[in-house]
Amino acid sequence: MKRILKKMLPAAAKRAIVLGIDGFSLFLARACATNGVLAGLYYAFFSRRFDREHLAVLRGRLAYAKSLREIGETSPLLRRNIHRLEKGLIMKPRRPLFAEGFIAETVHCYARAAANLDYSPAELKWATDVLDAYFDVVEPSPVVEQAQQVYALCSQTRGTERPILVPPTFRPYPRSDSPPCNISHDALQALFIRRRSVRWYQPIPVPGDLIQKCIDSAALAPSACNRQPFRFIVANGVERASRVAQCAGGTVGFAEQLPAVVVVVGDLSAYPKEQDRHLIYIDGSLASMQFMLAAETLGLSTCPINWPDVDAAEVRLQKLIHLPEYERVVMLIAVGYPDEEGGIPYSQKKEYRLLGQDMVTDDH
Ligand SMILES: Cc1cc2nc3c(=O)[nH]c(=O)nc-3n(C[C@H](O)[C@H](O)[C@H](O)COP(=O)(O)O)c2cc1C
Repeated sequence: MKRILKKMLPAAAKRAIVLGIDGFSLFLARACATNGVLAGLYYAFFSRRFDREHLAVLRGRLAYAKSLREIGETSPLLRRNIHRLEKGLIMKPRRPLFAEGFIAETVHCYARAAANLDYSPAELKWATDVLDAYFDVVEPSPVVEQAQQVYALCSQTRGTERPILVPPTFRPYPRSDSPPCNISHDALQALFIRRRSVRWYQPIPVPGDLIQKCIDSAALAPSACNRQPFRFIVANGVERASRVAQCAGGTVGFAEQLPAVVVVVGDLSAYPKEQDRHLIYIDGSLASMQFMLAAETLGLSTCPINWPDVDAAEVRLQKLIHLPEYERVVMLIAVGYPDEEGGIPYSQKKEYRLLGQDMVTDDH
């Protein structure tokens, strides 16, 4: 019906209808933008633009709840709690008794991880080293002692059939043990200036081991509570890469010659609560930036590609790369050896003033 009307109506009438709908929608938006309940009603009855986000967040919560019962290769709860313990261990001054509120759930989760041979050996070693450090120093209490007993039993289940990761230990360490920084600010700035969004590439395949190196660099990015709620799906080879790139609107005209495309995917099953839903985009973007800078040091160029919340595009990509509904695309990254004659938009950068103390009020 919509299509038939579109064909039959003269252009002026179509324009008038579009303007009318836009005007009405803006009128409703103005009326509903006064408080949260009305805004919720607006998005329940007049616009379905948040449907996919809502669905993904709810599915994420359910998948998180499932991950507590059926542990896989990794556990968001264990990662988060082990990180909380690390932070407790480095506190100045360190409290004699800490983490009482969550040590029981941590060791129970650890027990399930230790019993699962598919669980990541590195993650388990980190948890083991940090729990050892914790029980070495924490002041005994009934809660701590009970947790320690559960933990002691785990040492019988973990081990033997699993690859043994040898030292160095994954316990907290002093800053002075960090490797020195041999990169000057000028050298780093030169890398930032060299990295540009490159859209034209040489028809040369991208070696998989170089993409792996970029992913290894991306994995070193900071992430909230060290959950690292993202993964990278690599479409390598022009044919595959262009099929993925064509799902995105922002690649018109250059999608067909991209040698590789990486899909950065955020995992909402890392969170029990809606309040953290934005972290997949923050953590995923920080990692993406490291990926792109690492690529530049390997002679590769990149272009981040936007992934707006467009239903049809999401359905297409979801089918192509088999995404569960609790995973959301953060962005795509085109990767390849740059065509040296290919143009680079100047894309002038804003100048940022150093904002001074006058921006922070003294009294509150
Ligand atoms: C999240 C994000 C999405 C982007 N999406 C697209 C895109 O869809 N198509 C495109 O050609 N460039 C895209 N870009 C590249 C920007 O246009 C580019 O980063 C900006 O103009 C600054 O230029 P530079 O990256 O060369 O410094 C995107 C960049 C970011 C960070």
